[in-house]
Amino acid sequence: MNRVLVTGGAGYIGSHVARQLGEAGHDLVILDNLSKGFRDAVLYGELVVGDTGDRDLVSELLRRHRIDSVMHFAAHTVVPESVANPLKYYANNTCCTRSLIECCVAAGVRNFIFSSTAAVYGIPATGSCDEDTSTMPINPYGMSKLMSEHMLRDVCTASAMRHVILRYFNVAGCDPHGRIGQSTREATLLIKVACEAAVGRREGIAIFGTDYPTPDGTGLRDYIHVEDLADAHLRALGYLETGGSSATLNCGYGHGYSVREVLDMVEKVAGLKLNIREEPRRPGDPPGLIAVADRIRHILDWAPRYDDLQAIVRSALAWERTPRY
Ligand code: UD1
Repeated sequence: MNRVLVTGGAGYIGSHVARQLGEAGHDLVILDNLSKGFRDAVLYGELVVGDTGDRDLVSELLRRHRIDSVMHFAAHTVVPESVANPLKYYANNTCCTRSLIECCVAAGVRNFIFSSTAAVYGIPATGSCDEDTSTMPINPYGMSKLMSEHMLRDVCTASAMRHVILRYFNVAGCDPHGRIGQSTREATLLIKVACEAAVGRREGIAIFGTDYPTPDGTGLRDYIHVEDLADAHLRALGYLETGGSSATLNCGYGHGYSVREVLDMVEKVAGLKLNIREEPRRPGDPPGLIAVADRIRHILDWAPRYDDLQAIVRSALAWERTPRY
């Protein structure tokens, strides 16, 4: 079993991964400043409230808990906000990651698993990308993550630390047992927003762009259930622990759905009609973004268990119907 520091472990994806790590018997320390995360989302391990960029705190935690592996989720993730306030994103997502990596190397951390994003690809020519597709982010969020990827690769080449970079496509859904979920305030992600509308927490939902060169004119994305994504993290840890070399892996199912298909599914699962408006394209949105996801299956022996839009929506909607933290 590993001793793992999970940054951002009180947030949406981090809390699901931490829960699976705890269930698997790993020793955990969660570092989260609770700016977006929730204390109640931490089901396993000790929660330390603090910043990833706080060198003294991070170094002390790494040493005191004899951490051998770090999973780094703490980040800002709202694309339009990154366009409006790029330095906020470079400060937190890039500079704090640099500081964390430095502390990890100094403390002899062996394994570093990094939350990256499909946003590093920008607008891929064909709409689908493998890990060798050129990276050309079109927003500061994607660039802030790509810069961290480069730092991590360079540092791992120059040190004994090894990494797995996981490039998430569109993460959705919640713990199927309803213990934790996605509680992000003022969320912008499609499935979350649609489910909030379905339970009456929003008056409706907008489709951003109906004139894309896609079959029904709306954006196509590869939606991956957070439980499958969390499983990929545990497998990445096992892979590094058994001597696997550093790797960069797409996390998606390899096929996608349009915005209209997602909204149809939310209506079907909720058993009601949403109040849907059509609006112009949202700046910075590519028409389609679908993973070529063969490498992760091969390298991590990963096989999705929730590759089913209905299951994703059902778990997301169930969470919206549970009382809030
Ligand atoms: C973006 C990032 C992704 C990041 C995620 C988290 C890109 C290419 N991707 O995902 O890496 O992890 O943000 O912030 O930058 N939509 C609507 N109405 C809504 C909300 C969304 O029509 O109210 C549409 C969007 O136009 C898009 C699709 O739904 O076509 C998915 O959007 P969203 O859920 O916001 O995620 P991305 O922007 O794809």
